[in-house]
Amino acid sequence: MEIAVVGAGYVGLVSSVCLAKIGHHVICVDVDQEKVRQLKLAKVPIYEPGLEELLKECLANKRLTFTTSIKEATKKSIAIFIAVGTPSKMNGDADLNYVENVARQIAVNMDSYKLVIEKSTVPAETGKRVKRTIRLNLPRKYMKDHKAAFDFDVASNPEFLREGSAVHDFMNPDRVVIGVESKKAEKILRDIYKPLKPKMIVTDINSAEMIKHASNSFLATKISFINTIAQVCEHVGADVLKVAEGMGYDKRIGRNFLDAGVGYGGSCFPKDVDAFIRLSERSGYDYRLLKEVRRVNEEQRKSFLHLIEDKMWIVKNKVIGILGLAFKPNTDDIRSAPAIDIITILQSEGAKIKAYDPKAIPNAQQVLKGVTFAKDPYALAKGCDCLLVLTEWDEFKNLDFNKIQLSMKQAIVFDGRNLYQDKDLDSLGFEYYGVGRKML
Ligand code: UDX
Ligand code: UDX
Repeated sequence: MEIAVVGAGYVGLVSSVCLAKIGHHVICVDVDQEKVRQLKLAKVPIYEPGLEELLKECLANKRLTFTTSIKEATKKSIAIFIAVGTPSKMNGDADLNYVENVARQIAVNMDSYKLVIEKSTVPAETGKRVKRTIRLNLPRKYMKDHKAAFDFDVASNPEFLREGSAVHDFMNPDRVVIGVESKKAEKILRDIYKPLKPKMIVTDINSAEMIKHASNSFLATKISFINTIAQVCEHVGADVLKVAEGMGYDKRIGRNFLDAGVGYGGSCFPKDVDAFIRLSERSGYDYRLLKEVRRVNEEQRKSFLHLIEDKMWIVKNKVIGILGLAFKPNTDDIRSAPAIDIITILQSEGAKIKAYDPKAIPNAQQVLKGVTFAKDPYALAKGCDCLLVLTEWDEFKNLDFNKIQLSMKQAIVFDGRNLYQDKDLDSLGFEYYGVGRKML
């Protein structure tokens, strides 16, 4: 099928490449000329495992092309996915400026039936607004008696891709959710995903949008829940890892998303929780449960900082080594990463920060000032008064802790991801602090 994807960000680019891989002809549009130029040369502007190989393959077999022209993309395709960013406004609302703008540009370039599909996470009822925007902006020459001379449909097809495993998630979806208003739209979307043989959930547009909100909110709630359990564990001398394991075997609960730590970050959960709280508020429901989820997430970072301040006694002029800057492993994305907040606060207290991350240093250099970036974990540890583990990269799992211990000024590790839970760093001469376990 001829498909356009508008937006070559984390979601749009992965979707474009994967749709091409499963056999479609995809034209991916982005306003960023430099990004498009790089992509045409098979250069991926983000780190996402497996993406570059697939991009090369799909460019070579010409199933994937890139352009900055929405006009070209609209004319050449029957299905158009909107995957542009939906950042947060100051008040937490999703800023739909880009989505509206893209809908208008698609409309003015339409000359035959198109299915316009929301892929970006948008508040419920955005589908209705996109539809109205398209209707109002269709070229007059195609309007007859105030009606369009051809049909178009709007649909919702939310993404559930986790950064770091987005290609795998696209190719092996737990389910594909489609919100549609016509049989024609349903058939097109079923055909698009047919090669993946997924479990399809077909519903109305509002319900599809709600499925995305509810799923992300539930996962954020699960993380905050285990973080509250971690708080209590620390006080009663229990071990949150054992608690999560014990809970996780219950099929009704499941072990996933029960990792206590420094709280959730990334481009989705913080923004989507805010947007859902605002959406509920505007519809007359005060979503106190989600407000508490958000508060717990913020508190989690603060309590990790309090632990550091308490155990370090004096933070000023201490050299603090940061292992991990990305908001999670296998990505270079630092949007709402716990590391960025934690570093900024420690710097404001006079600490000297060194940092290492396998992929996120270039992005971190754009937003952090006064940080010394190390070339590997050993160079990082040298001369540090303590180490903070803020992203659980595989590369950090099997470090030579004897070597690290000898090169540090003080051998203290604050493990914000419980990565070294079973390493017994205490016996190697470290003072070791995890999350959700009895404190010394
Ligand atoms: C997307 C969705 O926007 C977000 O709602 C969802 O929760 C996660 O996925 P992401 O892919 O991470 O976000 O966005 P980003 O990496 O910021 O990429 C957006 C792309 O759209 C950028 O490359 C930007 O240049 C492009 N864009 C933006 C356009 O092409 N046109 C526009 O009008 C605006
Ligand atoms: C999320 C959704 O999972 C995905 O379906 C899509 O809607 C986009 O948003 P993503 O943000 O890429 O994906 O990563 P995810 O694996 O969900 O992790 C989000 C954050 O939660 C990370 O900061 C991670 O470290 C944190 N997390 C996750 C925990 O703190 N504990 C956990 O048990 C799981």
